Amino acid sequence: MTDKRQILIAGNWKMHKTQEEARILVREILRGLTYGIKAEVMVAPPYTSLAAVAAELAGSAIRLAAQDAFWKPQGAYTGAISPVMLADAGCHYVIVGHSERRQHFGDTNQDVNRKLLAVLEAGLIPILCIGETIEERQAEKTLHVVAAQLREGLAGLSGEARDRLVIAYEPVWAIGTGLTATPGQAQEVHAFIRSLLREVLGPAAETTRILYGGSVTPDNAATLLSEPDIDGALVGGASLKADSFLKIIAAGG
Ligand code: PGA
Repeated sequence: MTDKRQILIAGNWKMHKTQEEARILVREILRGLTYGIKAEVMVAPPYTSLAAVAAELAGSAIRLAAQDAFWKPQGAYTGAISPVMLADAGCHYVIVGHSERRQHFGDTNQDVNRKLLAVLEAGLIPILCIGETIEERQAEKTLHVVAAQLREGLAGLSGEARDRLVIAYEPVWAIGTGLTATPGQAQEVHAFIRSLLREVLGPAAETTRILYGGSVTPDNAATLLSEPDIDGALVGGASLKADSFLKIIAAGG
């Protein structure tokens, strides 16, 4: 990692935690954060706990994020939440295109692109998730799949938005499975993503953070983060307990 990119350690709580559980977890994280931590820290609770977590985070440096958003600002879209609402709720980041959204809710690259543009329009920063399935990796299609997800996900980006993006490479076979990509496997894809970003974003590619996600733990975080193009971690399971999340934050420098 170059000095141009601050490590981002992002906790994705998925469909976990009641409001009270969320308050307890975020208090423990705040209490455990030591001075001098160089990494930026973010948590993405479920929608129902955003307000509770926002209240706990007030005055702290930890950023609030949402796990998804619909692309319309408002309207007759029962069950949906807009980026405008998420900005109002105190979010700074919004995850889009997570593989669980693609797998269980049918999000296509085009849907993800609409969400990404809407998040930017609302003044928030999208974290665009991309990554191949095990079948795609075995068929040696990883780079092809990742390139399509990235290109289609970033279609129609305005020049002004080029500096307001985070990418997360999450091999689907590594998510929640305990199977982590080796630092070498991850770095290979991260370097490829950065080369594509140079085509799409120009010089902003050098400052765009590319997070790795998929079974990141306190044991493997430091070696993954020492790779030159791995600029942070998107952490699921290990972000649900303060002690493991704090250790990963500490691994970020
Ligand atoms: P995991 O999830 O750390 O539990 O593998 C990562 C993610 O889905 O963002």
